[in-house]
Amino acid sequence: MDYIMAENLLDQDQQKQSAKDAHVSSLKSSTGISFEQSYIDPEKTSSDLLKHINAFRDLSRESLLAYSRLIVRVHFAPGDTIIREGDEGDSMFILIGGVVRVQASNQEDDQEKSVKLKPGGIFGEMTLLTGSPRSANVIADTECVCLKLKKVDVDNLISDEPKFASLLTSILSERLNSHGGIKQVGKYRLMGELGRGAMSVVYEAWHPTLSCPVAIKMLPHEYLHYPDYKEKFHKEGTILAKLRHPNIANVIDTEEAYGTYFIIMEKLKGKTLEEYSRKNGLPDVDQCVSIIINVAKAISEAHRHGIIHRDLKLSNVMIDENNEIKLTDFGIALLPGDQLKKIENIEGTPNYMAPEQILNQTIDARTDIYALGMMGYKLFTGKSPFTGNLKDILDSQVHQKSPTPGSTRSGSTPVFDQFVLKATEKDPNNRFQTAQEVIDFFDRTAEVKVENINVSTISFVYGDGEILKVAKLVDMISETCKKHDIKAIF
Ligand SMILES: Nc1ncnc2c1ncn2[C@@H]1O[C@H](COP(=O)(O)OP(=O)(O)OP(=O)(O)O)[C@@H](O)[C@H]1O
Ligand SMILES: [Mg+2]
Repeated sequence: MDYIMAENLLDQDQQKQSAKDAHVSSLKSSTGISFEQSYIDPEKTSSDLLKHINAFRDLSRESLLAYSRLIVRVHFAPGDTIIREGDEGDSMFILIGGVVRVQASNQEDDQEKSVKLKPGGIFGEMTLLTGSPRSANVIADTECVCLKLKKVDVDNLISDEPKFASLLTSILSERLNSHGGIKQVGKYRLMGELGRGAMSVVYEAWHPTLSCPVAIKMLPHEYLHYPDYKEKFHKEGTILAKLRHPNIANVIDTEEAYGTYFIIMEKLKGKTLEEYSRKNGLPDVDQCVSIIINVAKAISEAHRHGIIHRDLKLSNVMIDENNEIKLTDFGIALLPGDQLKKIENIEGTPNYMAPEQILNQTIDARTDIYALGMMGYKLFTGKSPFTGNLKDILDSQVHQKSPTPGSTRSGSTPVFDQFVLKATEKDPNNRFQTAQEVIDFFDRTAEVKVENINVSTISFVYGDGEILKVAKLVDMISETCKKHDIKAIF
């Protein structure tokens, strides 16, 4: 039998086969240690060992310690069968010394394929995600030392503390990304990664019946363990799938697979507003107003259907080359507010959170209005009004009045400043009460300017060679007019 690199191994269509194949997925991706390294110092403590393994690399220290307490070291002699195809899987293994052979029968050509794993490689891990029977034989090629992690211990740990489920998300994301790893989520064939957020990964995939690319968002495994989340996911997912609006990224479907949820949505062109500002520079106030109005239209439609977004932020709005705006990531992609606060390393979201969300009080459409105001501030100024550590930011969101965008960057208008102040009022009763009110506010202020128009003309008298001086003057006047919300035409 040939030993071949795992990348060339399996290319199956169906999810079941895909999960099976993940046992023998890429050698490169499953080894956290460089391919040449043949031995990990087994004298190291388990938590020291774990942090060198890819699937554990991004876990918090607390998680590493929790998992290292569950781990037992096991030794195998050459020729020992560590895992037998078809057996009930009850643990995953991390190889820390020696070499093992993973052998799987390929249903397509009836050939047995085999791959060698070296220290740092993990095997049997799909058991933790699916609980399905072993799909390959794993045999010790030499004397081997492994760390064994039992599924029942992992399940117990996670049911006590859902945050420890990040290991499962990490294992799955490795398998979804690796050559020869999982190729299928439900009926959708994976094509590659589109991007990563603080909590999730978004993949490109192929829709088999519509024959078009879609975006698939994998949600963290821990969500499934929060009370009522499952119900909310299915209820809101169904409503979202029916929602159609030019400013909303269509949700096409949802899937439950590999122990977690996936949201299948329209694949968008363009960039998130966050990326857009980084690459193109900060938008001017008129562009900001136009973006805010489009996002307000999107949330107004969602609110009409009883959906609150809960996570409005620049990275959840995409803009394409025609300046079309699409809002993504409605509430089902978000951890409940009280859990969100416990996550130390979460980026972005706390900067948009309304006081009632932080205080775990009832949230409603006006919670989205608050985030819309915060979004307007950040879009125009490039910063969030409140900085510091997570606790400082959350405290400020509850107690401190937001500064105006105009006090941070010149070029704002009194109207835009007023929008931000009113939208970010701490008491929801003092905010715009609906997204439609925001749209009307901008419409009304635009109309006032048109209805009461007064025009003053200025002439410049200048000599030959003074045109540059005049151009400079025009720039200065133009800037000052902007500051005072006066339209200047030259
Ligand atoms: N529908 C989509 N079409 C194309 N690309 C997308 C789509 N949705 C997300 N992306 C890409 O995937 C990246 C990650 O999205 P994701 O929603 O996970 O991150 P985020 O909004 O920054 O953070 P969070 O984890 O809080 O949602 C985005 O920055 C974007 O580049
Ligand atoms: Mg997002």
